Amino acid sequence: MVSSTFSFLGALLFVASVAAQSTAPQYGQCGGQGWTGATVCPSGWTCTFSNSYYSQCLPGGSGSSSGSSVPTTTTVPSTSGGSSPTSTSTSPSGTVTLIPGYSFIRAVEDPNFHQYLRSEVQNTASDAVLGDPSTAAQFQITSDGQLIQILPDGSNLYAAVEARANSTVMKLKMSWQTTPASGDNAGTFMWSGDTVEWSIPTISRPQLNAWLVCPDAAGNKDVYVNLGPYDYDTPAGCADETIHAYTGPYATA
Ligand SMILES: *[C@@H]1O[C@H](CO)[C@@H](O)[C@H](O)[C@H]1NC(C)=O
Repeated sequence: MVSSTFSFLGALLFVASVAAQSTAPQYGQCGGQGWTGATVCPSGWTCTFSNSYYSQCLPGGSGSSSGSSVPTTTTVPSTSGGSSPTSTSTSPSGTVTLIPGYSFIRAVEDPNFHQYLRSEVQNTASDAVLGDPSTAAQFQITSDGQLIQILPDGSNLYAAVEARANSTVMKLKMSWQTTPASGDNAGTFMWSGDTVEWSIPTISRPQLNAWLVCPDAAGNKDVYVNLGPYDYDTPAGCADETIHAYTGPYATA
């Protein structure tokens, strides 16, 4: 039932995209969040990603480089329900379209089902929180273990984890900063299947992909590394969650 609904939606989107199909001019815009114009470039030109709001037709056939200047990344794990998007994809208005090579990260359990990782102040160095699909940010994990968020202007934010003050502290707050995390704030992010893991040599913990989501006084769903056993002794007010890559064409509720 879910998959036939999905196919029907896919067919609708296909029809919509065919209807909108015309060719963008040389050096013209061919994609980006909110773009409803042509997404096809003239023969011999390639729709090239610039940032999440702008892709442009540039000379060169398929196989030319994507123009991305982000660090080497580990392969984004595939998640169910999504074929890999091409350079742009049509999605319902108000939704966030995934940039090729990036991944959304979201919780899949109540009370945070399909809430997506982002910055508390969107696109700004601030606490790591979960939020609605329409506010989803996009990520890669680099080969040296940094979790990076790409911003609409093409720059990055880097995940940093609070240093552990002492052995009684069982949750470490995660936040976003404009420079790569280092020392006690770095640790190593990696994909384990489609879940996000974090580890650091100085801390031994039973479950590397355990996270806590704890709303602050203003209701922001702050994200913490969970140092305790998964689903056991969860601090009051927090939800024990794993967080997962989602590589569908757009952030779904
Ligand atoms: C451990 O660190 C926390 C957070 O800084 C602090 O509140 C707590 O008093 C410390 N406990 C001990 C035993 O030092």
